[in-house]
Amino acid sequence: MRVLVVNGPNLNLLGTRRPDIYGPTTLGELEARCRQWGAELGCEIAVFQSNHEGALIDRIHEAIGRCDGIVINPGALTHYSYALHDAIEAAAIPTVEVHLSDIAAREPWRAHSVIGPACRATITGRGTAGYREAIELLATRPSA
Ligand code: DQA
Repeated sequence: MRVLVVNGPNLNLLGTRRPDIYGPTTLGELEARCRQWGAELGCEIAVFQSNHEGALIDRIHEAIGRCDGIVINPGALTHYSYALHDAIEAAAIPTVEVHLSDIAAREPWRAHSVIGPACRATITGRGTAGYREAIELLATRPSA
C-alpha cells in the first residue's frame, strides 16, 4: 500500500511556528516519523509539502493510479480552498484530513473545514500522533 502524506502552507515552519500550538517537531522529523509508522503498518510513504495551492493540487493529481491513500494537513487552505476539495474528490483516493491542533477550539474561522466533506475521516487536536492514526486508518480500513 502506498500512502502520500501532504502538508500545506506554513507547515514547512513546524518546530518554530507557534510551538505552543503545533508542538516542537519539525516537518523533517514528522515526515521521518510517518515513514517509520508506514513501515510498521506495511505502507510505503511518500511525502510532499508546498505553500502553493496549485502545487498541492498537481501533486494530488499525480497520485491518481499511483497511491492507495492520502493523508493531508491542508493548513489554512482547509478553511477556504474549494479547489483542493475538488482535487481530492476528483482523485477519488481514500483521504484522511489531519490537523495538529483542535481547530474547533480556536478562532471561529478555523472551525469550519471545506476539505472535510471530500475526506473519509478528519483527525484533529492529536498533534503528530494524528498522522499515525490517519496512516493506520488507511492501512487497516482502506475502504471504510
Ligand atoms: C492546522 C490548522 C489550520 O487552521 C492552520 O492554518 C494550520 C495548521 C493544524 O494542523 O492544526 O496551518 O491545519
